[in-house]
Amino acid sequence: MNGNAHKAGNADFQSAAATPEDVRAVAAPGNARDAATSDDIRNAAVPEDVREAAQAVLDEFAGRRRGMRPGRFVPGPPKPLREKNDIALYLEKISVSFDGFKALNNLTLYVAEGELRCIIGPNGAGKTTMMDVITGKTRPDRGSAWFTRAYNLSAMDEVSIVEAGICRKFQRPSVFEELTVLHNLELSLKGDKRVLSTLGARLSGEDRDFSAAVLERIRLHEQRNLAAGKLSHGQKQWLEIGMLLMQKPAVLLLDEPVAGMSAGEIERTVELLRDLEGEQVILLVEHDMEFVRAVARTVTVLHQGSVLAEGDMDTIRNNQAVIEAYLGEAQC
Ligand SMILES: Nc1ncnc2c1ncn2[C@@H]1O[C@H](COP(=O)(O)OP(=O)(O)OP(=O)(O)O)[C@@H](O)[C@H]1O
Ligand SMILES: [Mg+2]
Repeated sequence: MNGNAHKAGNADFQSAAATPEDVRAVAAPGNARDAATSDDIRNAAVPEDVREAAQAVLDEFAGRRRGMRPGRFVPGPPKPLREKNDIALYLEKISVSFDGFKALNNLTLYVAEGELRCIIGPNGAGKTTMMDVITGKTRPDRGSAWFTRAYNLSAMDEVSIVEAGICRKFQRPSVFEELTVLHNLELSLKGDKRVLSTLGARLSGEDRDFSAAVLERIRLHEQRNLAAGKLSHGQKQWLEIGMLLMQKPAVLLLDEPVAGMSAGEIERTVELLRDLEGEQVILLVEHDMEFVRAVARTVTVLHQGSVLAEGDMDTIRNNQAVIEAYLGEAQC
């Protein structure tokens, strides 16, 4: 976590009077809707194609698709989180409209320090737009976005937000293909803008150690001298995560990091995220429910620009409103 963020106070902050408990109460799953089970779906008087679509959603949540054993991607018990309950990221009543269409509609989301939060939702729910607001790419029409009580994100430009420690990884890996894995990492050192030809030569011992530690973490130590273009798709995704880690981020925003990965690569990504959990906020947007089930403690479901439900995966997958939201998508 960015040290300066804790020191700075802010009298304007909307939730300054709220305790973490207050915030959690607001952010908790607000709907006490009836839960639906596979049997409910099976027995309901609905057309066959709609029933199949609903069952597919439930199967996806349960990790039964693609012949996977449930829990296959769970490498072991999650490590205990540090006792840190302060809220780090605040989105309050955010609305964003595009030509009158509300991509985000009164969205409120609180994420605690060190938390790994998964964001799911049907296509067009507003997930990417939410990341655009956090990173300053899109200005909200209404509402406020803060990173700790120090950074008013809706008043900052994109560069300043990166400098505040909020780093984003887009879906497609964007590494320098001709450079080695190690050079890609070194180029990402915070505040480091060396000329390429001198790469490596001026690195301090501390920087070298840090690069080596990141290489180990992303499991590319053996490939450190390989051109990044020779890596597999999954390895490129890890390298890009490593490039973000080189900047010692306070918040990592990951948009569909396992899209296109093999099952083995997904499994290793689960391990990587488990390893990173607790050190910074991780906001993870993902459609692969099996992966979400493996990494998520708390899942937030977006739908039509708002939070539809929030809770652990079992709570979410039994939530009638969530099932209906995905069902609506399947019928489109
Ligand atoms: N620049 C834009 N101009 C007009 N409409 C936009 C723009 N960006 C997003 N939208 C619309 O806002 C809605 C939310 O889009 P967004 O990309 O945030 O959804 P998403 O949840 O990320 O979807 P997906 O799962 O498909 O990535 C969609 O209906 C989209 O068409
Ligand atoms: Mg998106």
